[in-house]
Amino acid sequence: MNAVFPGSFDPITSGHMDVLTRAVKIFDHVTVTVMHNARKQGRHLFTLDERLEILRQATAHFGNVSVDSFGGLLVDYMARQPGGVILRGLRAVSDYEYELQIAHLNRQIGDAETVFIMAATRWSFVSSSMVREIASYGGDVSEMVPRASAGALRQKFADVYAEREAAQAGAARSAADQTPTV
Ligand code: PNS
Repeated sequence: MNAVFPGSFDPITSGHMDVLTRAVKIFDHVTVTVMHNARKQGRHLFTLDERLEILRQATAHFGNVSVDSFGGLLVDYMARQPGGVILRGLRAVSDYEYELQIAHLNRQIGDAETVFIMAATRWSFVSSSMVREIASYGGDVSEMVPRASAGALRQKFADVYAEREAAQAGAARSAADQTPTV
């Protein structure tokens, strides 16, 4: 059976990767699909092309994963994949209510089935939006995202990272200068 893993992936996180790592053992093939809407493009940190490139790099080691994009209703995309199911990850109970609503709506408007995979608890607090927030201040997100996302975030916020690292190096130097020598 084939699964479609839809999302914004702005950018893909370690939580998404965890779900994907579990899914590739269950499904014959998983298509990670960036759902995009031209009217919402401005609300994303990464362009569609950037997100696709990050996804390609992050999923290159899986033998049964491909990357795609679609601008429209998910059920219309699913209609092009007969027999496929929608795959969504759940991090915590708080995700469930929203996901349940979407899953029921997708079943009602397009007869599409949704399968959920629980992400490991260590990712329960990780989301693309939190990762973007931390990176926008030059914080370390390397544990929370795959290497491709971390590199892209560093590039996007290069000035902020450089400034924070310079400030940290300065603080370390003055702390060392104040350490009494015996
Ligand atoms: O990563 P996200 O933002 O949680 O993903 C949500 C997404 C993109 C899967 C969802 O918003 C979606 O399916 N959008 C496509 C438009 C659509 O079909 N909307 C109706 C769902 S009832």
